[in-house]
Amino acid sequence: MGVQLTDKIVLVTGAAGGVGRVVAAQMAAEGAKTVLLADLAPEPLSEVAASIEASGGSTGSIVADLGSSEGCAELVTRVADGYGRLDVLVHTAAVPNAPVDFLAVPDEVWASEIALHLNASFYLGRGFAALMAGTGGGSLLFTGSIATQGGARGMAGYTAAKTGLLGLVRAMAVELAPRGIRVNLVSPGAVDTPRYRRRITDDEAMAGLRDHFPPAPLDRIATPQDVASAFVFLASDSAGYITGQNLLVDGGTSVWIRTPND
Ligand SMILES: NC(=O)c1ccc[n+]([C@@H]2O[C@H](COP(=O)([O-])OP(=O)(O)OC[C@H]3O[C@@H](n4cnc5c(N)ncnc54)[C@H](O)[C@@H]3O)[C@@H](O)[C@H]2O)c1
Repeated sequence: MGVQLTDKIVLVTGAAGGVGRVVAAQMAAEGAKTVLLADLAPEPLSEVAASIEASGGSTGSIVADLGSSEGCAELVTRVADGYGRLDVLVHTAAVPNAPVDFLAVPDEVWASEIALHLNASFYLGRGFAALMAGTGGGSLLFTGSIATQGGARGMAGYTAAKTGLLGLVRAMAVELAPRGIRVNLVSPGAVDTPRYRRRITDDEAMAGLRDHFPPAPLDRIATPQDVASAFVFLASDSAGYITGQNLLVDGGTSVWIRTPND
């Protein structure tokens, strides 16, 4: 791809997840010096680390619960103490909540969506920006969704968190630019990950996905690699003049105005 990640220390949260593990592998493949892997789940994290190391990459694994300010602060401290710097943060961690009717949304579902998608983005952004500001800057990358563009049934907390995250990214981009820190959002449409497969369980339903999800002009759902490539680009020096943006990786779904010709 020709991007420049050499010498960069990269941290991926949700690194055991469908998107996070591929982001971590691509960052290593593009020459990152060390890829730090953080997740709630220890076992898949070890598998991801072993696979990256088998391909010649260098990793560090950190088990972390990012659902609270304390958990986020602990991760910042562990990275600062262990590595002294961070060049790139990619926050992909996500709660596995199933869609639920708005009138029946439990308080804890709402709270968990806001906690991991919005609050953790603020806590990690603030903590790592302080570290980056002292070491010459860096890149903060967060994961939005096509839910930043509109509402989806059964996903009020998720949609609110991802839309609020877009505002947070814009505010951080403006405020952190003088400290040499770029802040961007990558917003996928449907991605073929275990998270998605939990909802669309059989192959037949997967094949008929156009009936389940707003269709994409590119006529397929995203692979984790599609999403990881966007993160790798935004993390790289090639994207040095890009900040405060929401890069939609949705196959064109969000810009398609359907007409009777479709
Ligand atoms: N898969 C999709 O269709 C899709 C579409 C749009 C946006 N996204 C976004 O992409 C990102 C990644 O999604 P995914 O499909 O890889 O999800 P995933 O469920 O496969 O992975 C999420 C990871 O987050 C970890 N995690 C959960 N709670 C945590 C916590 N409290 N602290 C630390 N880690 C925690 C899980 O252990 C898991 O490894 C999410 O932000 C999601 O909202 C996904």
